[in-house]
Amino acid sequence: MRALKIKNVKKSFGGVDILKGIDIEVEPGQFLILVGPSGCGKSTLMNLIAGLETVTSGEIVIGDRVVNDVPPKDRDIAMVFQSYALYPNMNVKKNITFGMEMRNVDKDEQEKILERVSKMLQIEHLLDRKPSQLSGGQRQRVAMGRALARDPGLFLFDEPLSNLDAKLRVEMRTEIKLLHQRTKTTVVYVTHDQIEAMTLGDRIAVMKDGHIQQFGTPHEIYDNPANMFVAGFIGSPSMNFIPTRIVAAEGGLGAEILHGEQNWIFPLQDPQGKLQAWVGKDVILGVRPEQFTAAEDDEPSYDCKVDIIEPTGPDTLVFVHLNGKEVVCRVHPKKAKHPGEIQRLTVDLTKAVVFDPKTEARIL
Ligand SMILES: Nc1ncnc2c1ncn2[C@@H]1O[C@H](COP(=O)(O)OP(=O)(O)O)[C@@H](O)[C@H]1O
Ligand SMILES: [Mg+2]
Repeated sequence: MRALKIKNVKKSFGGVDILKGIDIEVEPGQFLILVGPSGCGKSTLMNLIAGLETVTSGEIVIGDRVVNDVPPKDRDIAMVFQSYALYPNMNVKKNITFGMEMRNVDKDEQEKILERVSKMLQIEHLLDRKPSQLSGGQRQRVAMGRALARDPGLFLFDEPLSNLDAKLRVEMRTEIKLLHQRTKTTVVYVTHDQIEAMTLGDRIAVMKDGHIQQFGTPHEIYDNPANMFVAGFIGSPSMNFIPTRIVAAEGGLGAEILHGEQNWIFPLQDPQGKLQAWVGKDVILGVRPEQFTAAEDDEPSYDCKVDIIEPTGPDTLVFVHLNGKEVVCRVHPKKAKHPGEIQRLTVDLTKAVVFDPKTEARIL
């Protein structure tokens, strides 16, 4: 396992800046997730780490070596990318063992590794087939097997599960996590899947437009998003963004919610006085769906008319409107009302966040 340092890395293609100064440090054995919308530069960054493209400026350090000029094969990495090129004329078994043969790995050891990875990836029955006789998902697993048969200093995965069906995807996610716990190899893993990002990563880097928006643990990113983009991107369903105004309330400040004839104030805790300058001004209040739940019978409540409901199994998503904005609430199925009925809601504002509506920067 090796450390990875990306120092002020920029990349442009034909004068267009794609990566605009990326800084990331991954400690040996960490699992780094890169997330961000399509086109933000994730694969470009992976290609730079792998050495398939050269940086326009900046440095990439793997272990204690600057690798800017080191060819891919000498970087001590194994990669599984979206376009997983298998050797078309070799069968699955050979695709997986070929690298080991080249490295003169002992035959018995090769067999052991082949057995282990093909079992893990559920491709034991495919070992004699050629890549052309496989589905997309099967090919992806073989590419994964080929990478896992190595013992590299760094694994690079670029959306390796994107072609798999839901069930296999979840199984593979668990396998990757187990693999990482066992081997403690440093991993950089690209995904646009929320759950993969939250469950697999020790660290998450959220990218947008060639910049890192936030770098932190899954918890930090989820509970303490740096700005509105990160807050909206991580978490499913997304954080609710409610347009509101900061007003003085009993014993502090609150967010004003005008609801029909009623005028509610959601009290906000602001020990550092960050909202003081915003009294009387418009802001965006960010509240995650699970912070809106059904009120107990004897509890004060905010009563809202239900627009639609979406049962997910363990809980039901109840959609209401607050300040003219659709708001998703995560309610226990037994407590969920039907469309047109009144849902008695309570809100936990201890984790509420507040954004500047113009810059989308975090205020509270
Ligand atoms: N070889 C290339 N030549 C020109 N533009 C490229 C090249 N590779 C990527 N790009 C552009 O860089 C941007 C980021 O692409 P990419 O890194 O693949 O995004 P992501 O993986 O986050 O979806 C896109 O606008 C893409 O068109
Ligand atoms: Mg990509």
